[in-house]
Parts: sequence; C-alpha cells; structure tokens
Amino acid sequence: MNVAGTQRETREQATLLSAFVVSATLWLLITTAVAVLLSFKFPFPDLATSPYLSFGRLRAIHTNGTFYAFASVALSGLAIYIAARSSGAPIYAKPVAWVSLGLFNVAAILGTITLDLGMSDGSQEYREWLPWVRVILLLAALCSAYVVAGTIARRVERPIYIANWYTLGGFTFTAILWIVALIPTYQIGVGQVSVQAFYMHNAVGMWFTFLALGVTYYALPKLLNRPIYSYSLGVLAFWTNLVFYPIIGSHHYEFSPLPWWLQTLAIVFSVGMLIPVFAGSANLILTARGAWDVVRRSYALPFLAAGIVYYFLGSTQGTFEALRTAQAYWHFTSFTVGHSHATMYGFITLIVFGGVYALLPLATGKQPSPLLTGVHFWFALVGVTLYVIVLSVGGTIQGINWASGNPFISSVEAAAPFWLARALGGSMMFVSHLLFAYNVYVMIGAKQPTLEPQAQPA
Ligand code: HEM
Repeated sequence: MNVAGTQRETREQATLLSAFVVSATLWLLITTAVAVLLSFKFPFPDLATSPYLSFGRLRAIHTNGTFYAFASVALSGLAIYIAARSSGAPIYAKPVAWVSLGLFNVAAILGTITLDLGMSDGSQEYREWLPWVRVILLLAALCSAYVVAGTIARRVERPIYIANWYTLGGFTFTAILWIVALIPTYQIGVGQVSVQAFYMHNAVGMWFTFLALGVTYYALPKLLNRPIYSYSLGVLAFWTNLVFYPIIGSHHYEFSPLPWWLQTLAIVFSVGMLIPVFAGSANLILTARGAWDVVRRSYALPFLAAGIVYYFLGSTQGTFEALRTAQAYWHFTSFTVGHSHATMYGFITLIVFGGVYALLPLATGKQPSPLLTGVHFWFALVGVTLYVIVLSVGGTIQGINWASGNPFISSVEAAAPFWLARALGGSMMFVSHLLFAYNVYVMIGAKQPTLEPQAQPA
C-alpha cells in the first residue's frame, strides 16, 4: 500500500473504531441509568410504579442492553480493529462492518422498545428479546465475524496471533449458540431448560470472555512493550475453556427437574474451569511482572490489571458456587447477582474500558484527561467492589434465613440495608460512566491531536 493509501486506511480504521465505541458508550449510559433506578427500587419499592418503569420490564432492558448494545458492540469494534492491527492488513469489507454496527443498533432499539411495551420471549434470561429481534442481532454478529475472519485471512505473517484465536473462537461459538437459541423445537419443556442453561452461561463464557481475553492478549503486551509471558499457556487456556465451558450452564439449575447426571456433570466441569482460568490469568499477570510502575502510570493498564484480577476471582468464585452445598444456600439469592457483576462488570466491562483507553488514542491520536481517567477508574472499581461485597454478604444472610424456615419477609428485612448499599455502589459506577463518556468525546472529538495516529503496520 502506498503512503496515501496507508493514511486513508489508518483514518478509516480510526473512524470505524470510534463509531463502535460511541455507540457502545451511549448504550452503556442508557442501560446503566435504568440499572440505577432498578437498584433503588429494592430499598424503595414504591419508586416509579408505571408499567413502563416496572421492575420486570426494566430488568430485562438492562441485562439485554448491557450485553448486546454495550459490551457486544464495544468488543466487536475492538476485535475488528485488533484483527487489522495484529495482522498488518487493512480491514476487510468495511461496509459490512458498518452494516453490523447498524444492525446491532436496530436490534437494541427494537428489543428495548418491545420489552418496555411488555412484549418478551418469556423469562429466559438474556434472550428475552423477541425471536425476530434476535435474528437481527445474529445477523449483526455474523457481519462482524465476516469482517474479522476476512481481515485475519489477509494477515502478513502465517501464524494467527493468540488474540485472534480468542476472537475467532468467540464469533464461531456464538454463531452456533445464537442459532440454537432460536430453533423452535429446542424451546419446549425440560429440554428448553437445558438449552437455556447452555445459552445463558455460554453467552457469558464463550462470547464475552473470549472477546475480552482477545482484547487483553493484544493490548497488554502492546502497552507494556514486551511479549506475552507464554504463548503455550494462552493456547492451553483457549482449548480447555472450549472443552469445559459449554457444559457448565446447568449448574444454574441444580435441584431442578433436569437429569441429576447433567447437573453433576455441570459441577464437575465447573471444577475443570479452574484450568483455563488459572492458566489464562497467570499468563496475563506474569506478562506484567516487574512492570507495576508502568501499569500505575498508564491510562489503560490499571483497568486491564483490575479486569484480569476480577477474571481470576469471579471465575474461581463461580467454581465454588457451583457445588451443591453452596447452591443449597445461594440459589435464588442476591449472591448470584453479585457474582454476575463481579464477572460481567469487574472482568468484562473493566477490560472494555481498558481496551478503549489503550487503542482509541492510538487510532485517533487524541488522549483523554489523566485526572478524569483516574477518577473513572477508582469510581468504577470501588463501586463494583462495594456492589459485589454487599450482595455477597446480603445474599448469604438471605439464604441462611430461607434455610432456617423463617417467614419470607424476615429475609427481605435482613437484606434491605445491603440492597441500599448496592444502590450506592451502582451510583458510583454510573458516575464513572459519565466520566468515561466525556473521555470518549475527548479521544474522538477534541480539536488538537496530542500524538500521532498510529500508521500501518501495527
Ligand atoms: C451502574 C452500573 C450497574 C448497576 C447499578 C446494575 C444494577 C443491576 C440490578 C439492580 C440488577 C437486577 C438485580 C436483581 O434482580 O436482583 C442487575 C442485573 C444484572 N446486571 Fe447490572 N448493573 C450495572 C451494570 C451492569 C453491566 C455493565 C453489566 C454487563 C455488562 C450488567 C449485567 C447484569 C446482569 C448479567 C444481571 C443479571 C444478574 C443475575 O440474574 O444474576 N450490569 N444489574
């Protein structure tokens, strides 16, 4: 490619990444504003009682919105950019990438409106959007997958960089998952429950986990300016994740009518998950060994480091939570919601923030405010940690109350102060999102470039 062509490609990459990040940020603001309202409804149940603001509708708007309009869009945008940079190739079929972004937004708008009008596909977590809306979502992901795969196919060097293994794995498995979740004959009776177990856990483990690890495997060594600690550990974690993860979803349905052997298998494989989690997080932490001074002084590295630690803690917690003795107490309690936010926020969302702070300034040549980025980091980290701790304690007290046979209302009264503390932690997280949105504006819209946009190749 000549110099003019390289410059045009660099500009187009920056524009595309910026568009995905802006879209994801707007949805982050909308869906977490909804979540703050939800969290205040626990201590103040008479707050906002209109049907359009009811808990049942808003909860699904929050979960599906954060999953598919925020995290999926941010991670797809980062995946496309990383595929091009790490392959030393231009982004393949850029119009298809724009179509993907458009379809993600069409699905999110229609999904949100229909849910708020009371139209949902039933209480099947993370797939409450109507089936035809989920077809649009599937097409959006397939378009991004096409762009990523086409870009990697045009790589300069023969080996596929480990970040792209994770991305390709995530897109491939998710396409299968989202199709299975739509096939009508799989949505009946107890079979539907096992498909739901397969779907809801793999939406987290084979989609968000894979894409977030892909971002980390690219951004961490790049910012530290050193190679990944061990390529082989990365490959081991990749394959063992693929072996163990697809089976573990049924640990959400222990003591249910699902076959006992399936529940037991899910528990055994949940223990097996310690292998990819230990291998993956050790590999990433060892990559940063001895460089903590660099981490401290960077915008992006603290988010990535905290995200890796939450990956380790949240996933290890999940293994122990899957044991029957633990489930006997924690099932249906707020403890599970604490675990969800340890993983989806502490791990995935912090990695998204880190990935954006790492790569957007390289693409646009504009840096965020160091002070506001620091405040963003601490509000997000302290907010989510408060959220997870209070729900873990409150949820355990709830479970003990139920197991003791006390009247249900006594468990509600015991958990109420913890729910109020969760709303405070959640408000801190929301304030951090406002700062993030401002930083995104600075990284894209500020008038004076403060550093040179990075030219090809990466
Ligand atoms: C300001 C930040 C946030 C607040 C205040 C918040 C609050 C909430 C609340 C109140 C619920 C309902 C809990 C219940 O039914 O007991 C919830 C559920 C959930 N949220 Fe968030 N959330 C936030 C950010 C996020 C983000 C960014 C994600 C994902 C990327 C996320 C993923 C989830 C999931 C997966 C659930 C379902 C939990 C379960 O059933 O185990 N949240 N959130």
